[in-house]
Amino acid sequence: MPLCGCFSQLFGGTSPPPKNADSSSSNHAPNSAYTTQPGQANWANNPSQPPPPPIGRGTTKNQETYIALYDYEARMPDDLQFKEGERFTVIDKSQPDWWYAKSLNTNREGYVPSNYVALEDSPEKEGWFFGKIPRTEAERRLLNMPNDQGTYLVRESEKEPGSYALTMLDFNAERGKFVRHYKIKNNPSGGFGIFPQRDFASLQELIGYYTAHDEGLSCRLLRPCNLAEKPTLPFAKDVWEIARDSLTFDKKLGAGAFGDVFKGMWNGTIEVAIKTLKPGTMSPEAFLEEATIMKTLRHDNLVSLYAVVSDEPICIVTELMAHGSLLSYLRNEGQSTYYRDHLYMIIQIACGMEYIEQRNFIHRDVRAANVLVGVGQICKVADFGLSRLIEDDLYQAREGAKFPVKWTAPESFTYNRFTIKSDVWSFGVLMVEIVTKGKAPYPGMTNQEVVQQLQTGYRMPQPRGCHDELYRIMQRCWQDKDTDRPSFAELRNIFDGLTSGRQGYEDVPPPM
Ligand SMILES: Nc1ncnc2c1ncn2[C@@H]1O[C@H](COP(=O)(O)OP(=O)(O)OP(=O)(O)O)[C@@H](O)[C@H]1O
Ligand SMILES: [Mg+2]
Repeated sequence: MPLCGCFSQLFGGTSPPPKNADSSSSNHAPNSAYTTQPGQANWANNPSQPPPPPIGRGTTKNQETYIALYDYEARMPDDLQFKEGERFTVIDKSQPDWWYAKSLNTNREGYVPSNYVALEDSPEKEGWFFGKIPRTEAERRLLNMPNDQGTYLVRESEKEPGSYALTMLDFNAERGKFVRHYKIKNNPSGGFGIFPQRDFASLQELIGYYTAHDEGLSCRLLRPCNLAEKPTLPFAKDVWEIARDSLTFDKKLGAGAFGDVFKGMWNGTIEVAIKTLKPGTMSPEAFLEEATIMKTLRHDNLVSLYAVVSDEPICIVTELMAHGSLLSYLRNEGQSTYYRDHLYMIIQIACGMEYIEQRNFIHRDVRAANVLVGVGQICKVADFGLSRLIEDDLYQAREGAKFPVKWTAPESFTYNRFTIKSDVWSFGVLMVEIVTKGKAPYPGMTNQEVVQQLQTGYRMPQPRGCHDELYRIMQRCWQDKDTDRPSFAELRNIFDGLTSGRQGYEDVPPPM
């Protein structure tokens, strides 16, 4: 597999971009609101044409002003370095992750990461505006940090785009810390309000008012919820197949059955995780084909695939996750985690898997070792789709030693039938790993005993300390007939109902 000329392209050369950059995105358009949009079709799809300049470069067609939310240190020669608060006009938005912009402070032009800037007059530029995050994710962020009563955020509703909710941390002796959700209504006048008697021209005004008055709320708004860290920067523009010598391997993070994983750098500037596959693990052609689809799967609860070295030994370059696998996290730091932490881990994984389900993809290897943990206990599903590509003879060998029998649905090990519903079965076993803080499932049983017992209708008993409501869900995931198992969308709804926001929105009090 020839390597592409991505370096000369990145540094201003004229060679065309990688042939397959973003080529499959149109067949795999995302339909989850909780995602970063994958690359749109662009000039990279037609390598015979030289890349056109960004639309309107050098002009200021779009006069909207953007503001930097964080400092950004340039990592590529055509990036624009900037400081928090710097103002820009955006000249070209044709790439979703990288916009071509001109700084109004320095007059310099270059690419800026689109998730580091926001329209100057929009709520996005406010520290309290968290965008379209799920309701349970808003709760997790408020509850997982040492926040005080009155800490808040505003989010856009997932179910009703264009309408908003105020999510606030509260406290009382009976419930301890808990989260309240207030629906923000879009009033016919074009304004916003929580209670009928008060109308605000903007979300900013509304927040300003309730920071000073508790009128109708359980308490005044104290301070915005902290972001655990800056958002993950997108990977470099138009980079897909990369040269091996553009990677440095700094530290071994772990080893799997088919190779090692390293912390490293791409191009000396971008920190990445590099998974190396032992030669012969999978066919480079099959891998490249599947990886081209995998890279379009982008969701806050999936590990992003950045780039590949597509000749052997194959390297898979992904985002680096600070705390490694969920399995080791549970066994170490996780010893001081409780029901609520477990529930939010489970929900995040269900969100990632719901996205995989919506995209008609199948993971095939769902278990705690294939979920990675980042700052603030964010959980992301990794290694989706890889196990299908493992060469048959290795897969057979794996069956003996490493094949994850205890996670595998009966129809998969009996008929080799893998579906999203066999992923649901594995997800039930992963729930056991979480509530037992990383214990191996079916303790005391061999793989063979598990296979035999499952066929007679046996199921793993309720783990010690596992709530009844979670065990009932696990049992649904382990229904014999795969069609009787819930979908991930259904699972996510069930979990939403188990969190502290189960009452829905706070009732609007009667007019004062
Ligand atoms: N993106 C990443 N960021 C940080 N650490 C990672 C990353 N990917 C993998 N690791 C670390 O490398 C270890 C090995 O991962 P790998 O996926 O190769 O093996 P595995 O899933 O544990 O086992 P198997 O090969 O049987 O599937 C993980 O347990 C984790 O600690
Ligand atoms: Mg893995």
